Order: sequence, then structure tokens, then C-alpha cells
Amino acid sequence: MEMFVVSGGRPLKGRVSVSGAKNAALPIMAATLLADGPVTLHNVPQLVDVATLARVLVSLGMKIHGDTSAALHFETHDDSNVTADYELVRRMRASICVLGPLLARRKRACVSLPGGCNIGHRPIDLHLKGLRAMGAEITIENGYVYAEAERLRGADIYLGGAFGSTVTGTCNIMSAAVLAEGTTRIEAAACEPEVVDLGNFLNSLGAHIQGLGTPFLTIEGVERLSGGEYRVAYDRIEAATLMIAAGLTRGVVELEQVPVADMTAVIETLTHIGLKIDQLGPLTIVDGRGLRSATDLVALPYPGIPTDVQAQMMSLMSVTPGMSVITDRVFPDRFMHASELVRMGAQIRREGPTAVVQGVEHLSGAHVMASDLRASAALVLAALAAEGETVIRRIYHLDRGYERLDDKLNSLGASIRRVDDQPVGLTTPEVPMELSKHRSSRAA
Ligand code: EPZ
Repeated sequence: MEMFVVSGGRPLKGRVSVSGAKNAALPIMAATLLADGPVTLHNVPQLVDVATLARVLVSLGMKIHGDTSAALHFETHDDSNVTADYELVRRMRASICVLGPLLARRKRACVSLPGGCNIGHRPIDLHLKGLRAMGAEITIENGYVYAEAERLRGADIYLGGAFGSTVTGTCNIMSAAVLAEGTTRIEAAACEPEVVDLGNFLNSLGAHIQGLGTPFLTIEGVERLSGGEYRVAYDRIEAATLMIAAGLTRGVVELEQVPVADMTAVIETLTHIGLKIDQLGPLTIVDGRGLRSATDLVALPYPGIPTDVQAQMMSLMSVTPGMSVITDRVFPDRFMHASELVRMGAQIRREGPTAVVQGVEHLSGAHVMASDLRASAALVLAALAAEGETVIRRIYHLDRGYERLDDKLNSLGASIRRVDDQPVGLTTPEVPMELSKHRSSRAA
């Protein structure tokens, strides 16, 4: 396993480009199962999760060639297998995105139930509710979802849950509905830009989806989808992560390909905290040298602050004077990063779905452990600002969802070394005799 060794305290400076959006690329790749012909995708980010989903698709009879730096080509050459295997699905929850396309195109699907993860409980009841409403027979046995439908039929579906809409649930139902008989109306659909990107992709293949970006989607089923070519949107979450890196290191960076129109809440919050964010033609200039003021933040479904930026924001607030209150309404337990930031000297107190952050003068380097994708990004950002050296273990979490983030940050002047994780020698320190005598007597 690899780990990062980060030397902090270096203001970032220079220009980097944002990559394609992971959470758009994954459902779009899954939706290539629906196409009757070859599909070419541009701007797919080079991520572990992309590679994992590609393996799932190949196991489902898809031929995939090309490379993410240019274009990836997808074409089904054998549609006999309808099982997405546990061994692959357990590595990435987003594999559940193949459920809707498989059922719609091959009339059957057998997909391993996605496991939980460190950001909290992640059921798929809304996915299954929508597919059942469209006539699918669904059973759950031995950790697999078994779904069957000769031909899905259009339905009126309410997809709202206790925590708002569901992103991949909307992707699954929308993908299934494009080949259903009749019209499907989805209420409380997710409005995230990644869902819009999937909808635009499907429409480019001949689907009839209206209402993208609103909670009300209308999908008129069609007989077939053609092949085609599509460019995946840029990643607003990566863009926010890079902006926060500029703020934490008090640097000035120029970002290319920032989807500014999809980032109003994020840009407004960072500006309120004290960053200057301006557009210069195609460039987004982020000046993190300004003063700081604490702020409250609530992570909400789009267009609110994305839950996928909450951890990174917490790193920034850890060194912002004053008290900030962070609440995550989407994943109320998504605070694994807080305890690791505390190891770096942050002052953070959990109160249920809320964390109270008291800004400190500076963080200090420490040995920390990444727990999930965005938590690992938060720790990298905190390490950039910390005094001294930080060692971050389990950085495989980061590589799942960021395209060479360490290279990008190093090109801006950071010092992040990716090294093999040396097992720390468990040398027990010498125990003073009197203590050890006491200990042995107590043990007796
Ligand atoms: C997507 O996950 C993203 N992943 C997540 O990004 C993101 O955090 C999340 O949406 C919210 O924006 C991908 O797109 C691959 P949800 P998803 O279904 O679809 C509850 C990252 O770091 N819920 O929108 O799994 C659920 O428990 C990842 O890139 C139900 O109750 O999230 C949660 O509280 C992490 N029943 C809320 O809804 C359901 O059937 C939102 O979940 C489905 C969800």
C-alpha cells in the first residue's frame, strides 16, 4: 500500500486543469449498456473507480478500448451475462448504476447489493421502489438484487427519501425509463449536474428526457438507443477541492475547465470565508491570501453545498478564525475526517449531524489515516497547510476519485511524496523498572 508524506506551509501558485467528473462518468459508462451501437466517450477521468466499472462492464459482455487521455470506446458484443459480480461491486458502490440499464436492455439483472461505506448508511430502497413501479419483479437473496421485466412500462414515481433525492437512484430510474413502454414521470428527481450530464448523454443517443436539472423529469420511452459520441462534463467537486487548497495555503492558483455555473453555493461560501474567486476568460483565478472569517455550512442536495465538499471545507474552517458550524443533511455521519484533523491540532466537536469547528492558528503535521474518498482529500489539504510533515496512510481512497491530485498539487508548488507504506517498527519503549515492577505485580 502507498502513503503520502507531505511537507506543509508552501503557498500554491500556478495553473492546473480540472478533470472530467467521476460522478457523471460512472453512470454514463453504465448507460452505454443501453446503446444499440458503439459509443465513444471523451474526458473520462483516469480513476480507479473508472477502471473498476470498466471491469464490471467487460464482465457483462462489453468491449472497451482506447484510453482516458483521448477517448474510450464501448460496444456490447455479448449480452448473455446479466450478473454484476460481488467481487467487483464490493469495490465500488456506483456499480449499482448498471442495474437500470441491464434490466431495460436485457430484461434481467443480478447485481450484488452495494456494501456500506465509511460515510454512513447507503440503502438502495428508492432505486428498487422506482423499478418495481415500472413493473420489475425484484427479489433480494444472498446479497444480490434479482430483477426481471419482459418490458418495463412508464410510471409516475416519487423518488424522495428522508435525506432528499437520490443521485444514483435517479440515474438508475432515468436509464431504465428511456426504453420503457410509455411515459415515466419522476418527482423529487436529483438535480445534480452529474444527473443532467447523464440525461444529456441519453438524449444524444435518441432518448426523450425533459426537465433535466429540475426535480420533475418526464421520460418518453423509445424502442432503441443508437450509438454515439459524448464528452463528459468537468468535475465541480475536484474544482472545489483545488479552490480550497488555494485558500488553505494562502496561495493564488489559476484553474482551467471549472464548471462555474454549477458551483454557485460553493463559490459564494468560499468568498464569504475570504477567498477571492474571479473569472478571467476561460480561467478561474482563486486568491487565497485574504483574511478569513468563520461561516456556517449545511451540506444539502443540489444546488446546495455538496456533501462531497463538506470534508474539504472542514479542513479550511479548522484554520479559519472563529467558530464554524458544519451540518451534513445528506450523510449525517460523514465526519470520519474530523478525528484525523483533530490529530493535526484542529479543534472540532461532534454534535450529532453537526460538527462545531473552532479555528486554530495553525495545524501541525501528524500521522493520519484516510477513511474514504473525500476524507482523504480533506487530509491532503490540511497537510498542505500544516506546519511540518504529515504522513497520510490508505491513500488508495484518494486514487478512487481524483485524477493524479498529488501531481496536480505538486505542479502548484506543494511537496507531496507518494511512497510505499513502511510498516512502523513496533519497538516498545523501555519501561522504567519501578513501573514494570508495579505492572507485573498488578498483573499477578
Ligand atoms: C452519489 O452517491 C455520489 N456518488 C456521492 O459521491 C454523493 O455523495 C451522493 O450522490 C450525494 O450527492 C456517485 O454519484 C457515484 P444518494 P449516491 O443516493 O447516489 C439516501 C463521492 O465522494 N438514500 O444521492 O449513493 C442515502 O442514504 C461520492 O464522490 C436512501 O435513503 O447517494 C443518503 O443519505 C460519495 N435510499 C441520501 O439518500 C436510497 O435508495 C443521498 O444518497 C438511496 C439513497
